[in-house]
Amino acid sequence: MRIRKAVFPVAGMGTRFLPATKASAKEMLPVVDKPLIQYAVQEAISAGAEELIFITGRSKNSIMDHFDKAYELEAELAQKGKEALLQTVQEILPPGITCIFIRQAEALGLGHAVLCAWPAVGDEDFSVILADDLIDGRLRPCLAQMQRVYQEYGTSVIACERIPKEDTGSYGVVEVQPVGPGLGEIRRIVEKPKPEEAPSNIAVVGRYILTPRIFKLIQSTPRGKGGEIQLTDAIQAMIQEQTVLAYEFEGTRYDCGSKLGYLKANVEYGLKHPELATEFRDYLGNLTANWGQGEKSDARKK
Ligand code: G1P
Repeated sequence: MRIRKAVFPVAGMGTRFLPATKASAKEMLPVVDKPLIQYAVQEAISAGAEELIFITGRSKNSIMDHFDKAYELEAELAQKGKEALLQTVQEILPPGITCIFIRQAEALGLGHAVLCAWPAVGDEDFSVILADDLIDGRLRPCLAQMQRVYQEYGTSVIACERIPKEDTGSYGVVEVQPVGPGLGEIRRIVEKPKPEEAPSNIAVVGRYILTPRIFKLIQSTPRGKGGEIQLTDAIQAMIQEQTVLAYEFEGTRYDCGSKLGYLKANVEYGLKHPELATEFRDYLGNLTANWGQGEKSDARKK
């Protein structure tokens, strides 16, 4: 039982990163030297995905180009003998992986974006990855961790993490019946509740393994929070019929949909980058040491 198809909803406008996202996709924002969407795609492939389904919108051509073969660039790198760079470009998409691009004509929400993938997914279980949730799964990528749970239980699995209660308004929030360590059956799921209305502080993050039943349920899901067709609401309908598990993944999530989360990801991935780690650590060390001195001299001036 392997999830062969992964869906990447990438039609969002990325308004929080304007002006950077005026003409290009927010999923193409790099963390160090790779765009967010490439991390997401690599995670899906490492969990066994063979077919990548992108739900795109306007200004998303760069995503299509990124996963396409770049003959001219490759020829030039080869001619100049830049073998390492050539390899980097050629490894963006391993052989045997297919990309499908579906245009979401109207931005009607995450549920609607997932529904757009139905013709390509058909009648099989599939995954959904939101690229702006960048997850460092440490020992094993988050989706591969979820795949293990899926293999054991054979049902839908949603990645979750505990958040400060005051942040519930930014997430889908679940109430669970514990099944094992870090694993629970979802009893209720609410999209972006106020803290006082939230069923818990366990939030959904952007990784889902779903059964195709979800498509029919999205079709009959009315507009919800923010006037959008919410995946969360369709999942709430699904738990009446099927088991849906909430899985607290191991690792760290960076909310790259926010500027602060995005900066944190760049710093931490920079500190782990094979070419940069040492110099960058020294640089940050000096910078923070000098900050301390700056504060002291500022204090003296006062
Ligand atoms: C979406 C989902 C939400 C989930 C979040 C994870 O919200 O609707 O349930 O918790 O992704 O990142 P968005 O952040 O797209 O508004």
